[in-house]
Amino acid sequence: MHISIDKRFPTLRNNTYFNSGSYGALSEDVRDAYNEYLSDREQHGAYWPVWMKKYEDVRGEIAALLGVTSSEITIGSSLSQCLNALVSALQFDGDRNRIIVTDFDFPTTAQIWHAQKQRGADIVRVPATADGKTILLEEFEKVIDDRTMLVSIPHVCYRNGSMLDISAIAKIARKHEALVYVDAYQSVGTRVLDAGQLAVDFLSGGFTKYLLGSTGTAFLYTRQALAQQLVPTQSGWFAQADVDAMAIGDNQPAPDARRFESGTPCIPSFYAASAGLGIIREIGLEYIQRRIESLTGEILARAEAAHYTVSTPVDPGTYGPLIALESNNMHRLVNLLGEEQIITSCRDRNIRISTHFYNSSDDVERLFDVLARHSKLLVRC
Ligand SMILES: Cc1ncc(COP(=O)(O)O)c(C=O)c1O
Repeated sequence: MHISIDKRFPTLRNNTYFNSGSYGALSEDVRDAYNEYLSDREQHGAYWPVWMKKYEDVRGEIAALLGVTSSEITIGSSLSQCLNALVSALQFDGDRNRIIVTDFDFPTTAQIWHAQKQRGADIVRVPATADGKTILLEEFEKVIDDRTMLVSIPHVCYRNGSMLDISAIAKIARKHEALVYVDAYQSVGTRVLDAGQLAVDFLSGGFTKYLLGSTGTAFLYTRQALAQQLVPTQSGWFAQADVDAMAIGDNQPAPDARRFESGTPCIPSFYAASAGLGIIREIGLEYIQRRIESLTGEILARAEAAHYTVSTPVDPGTYGPLIALESNNMHRLVNLLGEEQIITSCRDRNIRISTHFYNSSDDVERLFDVLARHSKLLVRC
């Protein structure tokens, strides 16, 4: 490890933090970045030239992270905002009006797609296996056809950590000339993710979780040709070809993915996003991925040895940074762990243990020692 974890992440001094899938641990860097924003405001009042540069710098940093170009990146205040703008550019009145969603969707993506029913969209949901652990490729094959406009998939399921094979699903979609949208919020920052190589059309995420920034900044990647071709009906002055034009005679969308933006961006959050990304770059995604794989491997081994029921698929390559253990009283278990400064979260009868590079084998040991004391709240297999 290249950095002193305790110094950089004060939260980790007194807490065993397994909740990055909800909110990444606060770093000194992000705290300093927010202080810098406040002192910039204090000193300069409105500091727009610097803020606009930060805006574009963050765009460039996201593009570099995903291996794409800045002109393919939309910055928004939430993933939902970005997705809504994209969706507003789609037409559902033709024969190709089918949108594929999955049992693993985060609520916001599913809800946004369902909202398009009133515009003519036909929404089809791909089911998970009976044990709820994964979604088989053959289920995608069954529903993707020539009526499919777009397949919307989460890379890693926020409930149980299951990771879908994006490339394989994208291949099925391409056979039918369907578009592919990936919600990568639960994976970006935890592994090498090259949007170009994945050959998907859209990919989105944000800075609240593993990218270690803050709420207020999210992004959408749109493949160049589509960013030039799709015209959203959601717009605003920051979505214009020339933000300074202040034109009220027409809507002139930007020639690139900026056209999916809207109003004044969340400037303070850019300071945090840039600081969070700085840490990710410093540690390196290859290292982060290896570290997370090692920690999740340790968690799975400990769970298996203790006969706890794991709700995450266990084959290598089928899960992300989050491991879910089945509980018969998840809220009580999360609270009891919290009383001992072990921070986890829960969903769907599972406690969610989400790992990041700043976790250690000691953290895993501590967690399982405390779980052993409360093992009646876990479902045994
Ligand atoms: C997979 C996934 N998608 C989307 C979101 C939230 O997106 P938004 O930025 O719209 O709140 C989350 C947040 O927990 C998430 O885990």
